[in-house]
Amino acid sequence: ASGLEDELKRAIRTIPDYPKPGILFRDITTLLGDARAFRRAVDALVQPWAGGKIDKVAGMEARGFILGGAVAHQLSAGFVPIRKKGKLPYKTVSMAYELEYGTDEMEIHVDAVKPGERVILVDDLIATGGTAEGAVKLLQQVGAVIEAACFIVDLPELGGADKLRAMNVAVRTLVA
Ligand code: PRP
Ligand code: HPA
Repeated sequence: ASGLEDELKRAIRTIPDYPKPGILFRDITTLLGDARAFRRAVDALVQPWAGGKIDKVAGMEARGFILGGAVAHQLSAGFVPIRKKGKLPYKTVSMAYELEYGTDEMEIHVDAVKPGERVILVDDLIATGGTAEGAVKLLQQVGAVIEAACFIVDLPELGGADKLRAMNVAVRTLVA
């Protein structure tokens, strides 16, 4: 593993049996609270796009907002929130997405992205990929060109990154 991956792993706390028995929950609040680890994670997420032309960064509620805002600022890009149903005030496009048990709905403002704008999607972690798949479909519906989906943490055994790649979305993760 790279120095970066080791440092980020050390900054992530693992909570056994949260939210349910048998789950090892990867808690990134400790990484966010560690000034050096937070900066290194954001720097690594933006690195492939520095100098390139990303118009917008889209982040998924809630933890994608924290990272996506920092990434957008560093790229001098706009930020687009993808929110849980009922939170956005203007006209929206909605998409059902799969959770471990059942489904939920997420929304984007219809005019959040102009057709052809180049967008990267950012979230803290990809597990089953249900959330990211829904976000990709929403961005495609509003005409975005999705350059990549970027995450700090990949849980590869849950298959989310492979699911996105099967949709022809480039995936970048920092820690497995
Ligand atoms: C977590 C995480 C991702 C998603 C990953 O968010 O921040 O958005 O789950 O899981 P998936 O790849 O299986 O879809 P959560 O749904 O817990 O929402 P929250 O950030 O509002 O707590
Ligand atoms: N940590 C944070 N979010 C998650 C996890 C996890 O381990 N699994 C699914 N969403």
